Amino acid sequence: MSQCCINPSILSADFVNLEAELQRISNADAVHVDVMDNHFVPNLTLGLPVVERIQAVSPVPLDAHLMISDADRWAPAYADAGVASVTFHAEAAMAPVKLARELRARGAKAGMALRPATPVEPYLDMLSELDMLLIMTVEPGFGGQSFLDITLPKIRRARAAIDGSGIGVAIQVDGGITEETIVRAAEAGANVFVAGSAVYGHQDPAKAIDRLRSAGQA
Ligand code: DX5
Ligand code: ZN
Repeated sequence: MSQCCINPSILSADFVNLEAELQRISNADAVHVDVMDNHFVPNLTLGLPVVERIQAVSPVPLDAHLMISDADRWAPAYADAGVASVTFHAEAAMAPVKLARELRARGAKAGMALRPATPVEPYLDMLSELDMLLIMTVEPGFGGQSFLDITLPKIRRARAAIDGSGIGVAIQVDGGITEETIVRAAEAGANVFVAGSAVYGHQDPAKAIDRLRSAGQA
């Protein structure tokens, strides 16, 4: 299993200076863009027009995490905008298989996210429809929260199912990722790591990315 990816979350960046903030993470694998609608989660961030501008200036591909209700309706537009990877929440999608297929048909990688208390088992048969499974390691909505160790068994079960079926689905974790918690998440089977405060809270975000990458490969 390749533990390739560190995707910094711009939720912890300076929103007034996004272009400069993106340049500071040019050694990342992708930039994680948290879209929140103040309905699916109790917070509001940015939407498609800002994502399109980020896409135009970003030195790395976009990994959009849509924390929005009615994902079936809104998610395909992010793929149409050229976002490399579009992740919707299982809890917010009426027809997740159809939606994943629509994203792929539009040229995006399809991701599906699970809140900490959402089990993976009901979705095991549709993992082949996905490029990435995002297992939230905090309740979505805010940066700077503590990693929830109760999510580790779910990561292990998802990894076992993916490896057992031979499908190439990445497992992303998001929330509370630090140089310590990334080790536990990686051991459990995650291979794509989102980090907001651990990257942008560091005085040298590029160095923080390198350190997380080596910790996640340990
Ligand atoms: C939380 C977001 C995360 C957040 C992570 O709902 O989905 O992407 O930015 O922030 P940290 O790494 O600070 O927990
Ligand atoms: Zn996120």
